[in-house]
Amino acid sequence: MRTRVLGGWPRQERTLVPIIPLLAMLAAPSALAQASGQGAQLFTQRCATCHSVGEGDRIGPDLHGVLERRDEAWLTRFIKSPGALIDAGDPVAGELLAKFNGVRMPDQSLSDAERASLFAFFRECTQKGKGGCKPSPAEKMGTDATPEEIARGRRLFDGTEPLTHGGAACIGCHDVRGLGIAGGGTLGPNLTFAFARMGEKGMRPALAKLEGPMMGALYAKAPLVEEEQYALKAYLADASRDGSRPRADRDFFYLGVVGLVAALGFIGVVFTTPSERGHS
Ligand code: HEC
Ligand code: HEC
Repeated sequence: MRTRVLGGWPRQERTLVPIIPLLAMLAAPSALAQASGQGAQLFTQRCATCHSVGEGDRIGPDLHGVLERRDEAWLTRFIKSPGALIDAGDPVAGELLAKFNGVRMPDQSLSDAERASLFAFFRECTQKGKGGCKPSPAEKMGTDATPEEIARGRRLFDGTEPLTHGGAACIGCHDVRGLGIAGGGTLGPNLTFAFARMGEKGMRPALAKLEGPMMGALYAKAPLVEEEQYALKAYLADASRDGSRPRADRDFFYLGVVGLVAALGFIGVVFTTPSERGHS
């Protein structure tokens, strides 16, 4: 009995001790996740043109596991001024420069907090494994789109390509200049210059929610997936680059009886399709 007590003491201690840091870790994630979320956004805006995390090399190296293969002090110096390290003859920086075809990464002026949030993001992505950490596509700037993304946005807008959740094509209610001979619907405002007017900051949440009396009813149950939000934003950003002057959009908004009847007919179609789909 005595030996059992003696042996039991350390045993209990052994099980308790690891629990304490574990509890501390459980309490911490909210702050950590927040930093990582900011890092993800920063990455999308400032680094993703040249880097991926877990999706292979682009103009620069894949940053998956970068904190494991380099030390943090070196990374901090590198990100701040890759050129300075290269010019100082740093062997790793020189090797990277050679491997990436002599393309020099531009210096990044980041605050300590920003750099910490990026590192938190890299850590989280590395834990999730390769491909587990695609930053939210909707966060990429509309003006950074590729021609393919813009083309896809146009197809989604005009209904050539159906929306994932079965939402109505935007063309039913919105026109965009250059959309085709017949043009789009006129129940909603013309969106040719919507991106110029609303900006990245306004357009991103607008597409994520599609609110308003008309759109809210239509898309509440059929929201756009993030890739669709991005493609549509890219298309609208591209449309608003059209150098000519905006037409008086509102003229189209207050339309005549004919248009209204047509639009109501259209909504009727939209609202009946889901149930009809069930029968087919
Ligand atoms: C214009 C393209 C470009 C942008 C933007 C860019 N990088 Fe780079 N990055 C590169 C290239 C190219 C290299 C390879 C080294 C070189 O040639 O300068 C590199 C290398 C790196 C490395 C070293 C990777 C390794 O394997 O050691 C890190 C870390 C890095 N970049 C982080 C960032 C971060 C963080 C950002 C955004 C804040 C960023 N980069 C933005 C092009 C870019
Ligand atoms: C049933 C008609 C209808 C459909 C379909 C529709 N919209 Fe709208 N949309 C409207 C109306 C009407 C407005 C004006 C605000 C309001 O009353 O909701 C609007 C407003 C907007 C605005 C804000 C424009 C501004 O200048 O403030 C954006 C952006 C927008 N729609 C994008 C879309 C996209 C993208 C789609 C397709 C996924 C879409 N809409 C589909 C009717 C529609």
